[in-house]
Amino acid sequence: MGHTGMARKQFHLSWFLSQGYGPKGWRGPWPGSDTARWMMPDLFVDLARSLERACFDYLIIEDSSMLPYQFNGSHDTYLKYAASTPKLDPSVLVAYLAQATKHLGIIPTLSTSEYPPFLLARLINSFDHVTEGRIGWNCVTSSNDGAAQNYGHDGQLPHDERYDRAEEFTDLVTKLWDAWEPDAVLLDRDTPMFADGSKVHVVNHEGRYFRCRGPLNAPRSPQGRPPICQAGGSARGQLFAARWADTIIADAGNPEAMKRYRDTVRRNAVAAGRDPDSIKVLFLANPVIDTTLAAAQERRRMQQADANQHLDMQLANMSRLTNIDFATFDPDEPLQGLETNGHQSALAKWIGKTPRQLGMNQAVKQGLDLTGTADHVAGIMAEMMEEVGGDGFLFFNATFDRRYVIELCDGLVPELQRRGLTRTVYEHSLFKDNLMAF
Ligand SMILES: Cc1cc2nc3c(=O)[nH]c(=O)nc-3n(C[C@H](O)[C@H](O)[C@H](O)COP(=O)(O)O)c2cc1C
Repeated sequence: MGHTGMARKQFHLSWFLSQGYGPKGWRGPWPGSDTARWMMPDLFVDLARSLERACFDYLIIEDSSMLPYQFNGSHDTYLKYAASTPKLDPSVLVAYLAQATKHLGIIPTLSTSEYPPFLLARLINSFDHVTEGRIGWNCVTSSNDGAAQNYGHDGQLPHDERYDRAEEFTDLVTKLWDAWEPDAVLLDRDTPMFADGSKVHVVNHEGRYFRCRGPLNAPRSPQGRPPICQAGGSARGQLFAARWADTIIADAGNPEAMKRYRDTVRRNAVAAGRDPDSIKVLFLANPVIDTTLAAAQERRRMQQADANQHLDMQLANMSRLTNIDFATFDPDEPLQGLETNGHQSALAKWIGKTPRQLGMNQAVKQGLDLTGTADHVAGIMAEMMEEVGGDGFLFFNATFDRRYVIELCDGLVPELQRRGLTRTVYEHSLFKDNLMAF
């Protein structure tokens, strides 16, 4: 066996477009010259090009389907801060990002609670065709009753049943994706035979939640089954993810928690009859990079100060995730005895702390705190991956601007590449093949 250099295992990089296709950085120090045109794709196209220059695996576009109103029983706080609203439809953005890039994986969030399975399977299949194999699907179950009410329901199904339904949903979607055999299309003009009917199969799904005849009215797409991304954090959510996901995104606060999370994913994968290496677990991180450690720390301090100054914004975000109105509690009383049909894993971490403590930390609490120079942070990331075992990071900053993108893509990533930790070229044309390459 020859030794060909590079002893270190490479890891993956991805970007979470937190708070979806909406206004970014409009209150920050580098807002850009035309914040009123936030709905134009320009900033996101620049982001996608930068991510591709830095050889990221993928970009996820977060989404939800409501104007939140859970804090103080009103949408006012959300609108005041543009907190998780407004959001345009992520699929519209996908088309622009796809045109501007050649290699980057693009993952819109499309909820199993809101889309009919056929429509979702068809949309992703179409995207996979026009991107020539670079689309993925962030497969979520919606947690908020507000979204359910926009689609004619009183509220969401009970937490675990949402995942039972999502199992059947995803099974049906993948059956639709597989219904055309890879060689069904012949394009033989003499016979003539555009497609061979014996290689296109009716699905005839009859389940507990869905009925669908199938097949899709379009051929199998370049990836066939585009990568499925999942973020379920509860025990039930993690089982669902282990069954269906090609990549799992997780918010774990430190290397021990990351390792525990990833080990659980891998154990669950084996129990589900899958190769654990076929699931890439990427951890939410929120880097602040500057030319000196002191400058980076000062920027982190300013983020914290902004969070402290706008406690209502932080509490409103917690209310949105849990359907619990945090305006009704004494801000200095520890939380106890709360239950949610929303984000259970988030609420579990908040019990025992006061709303004020949580609110003050919320803005910077999410994701790993990676603060320093590019060199310093690259070193920390290397150590973390060594300890955890893989598989990479999911960068995000809810209020990013172009400066932030450049700091990561042209400051931090070259340091990672110099150390042999992340890719310098895309070796494959399909998103899935790049994701599974290491
Ligand atoms: C990094 C990350 C990104 C997520 N993105 C979305 C999203 O775009 N839309 C959504 O409805 N939920 C999103 N979620 C929520 C998850 O789908 C899931 O509901 C949440 O982690 C709670 O887990 P549970 O449903 O298993 O309790 C995200 C979660 C994480 C950790």
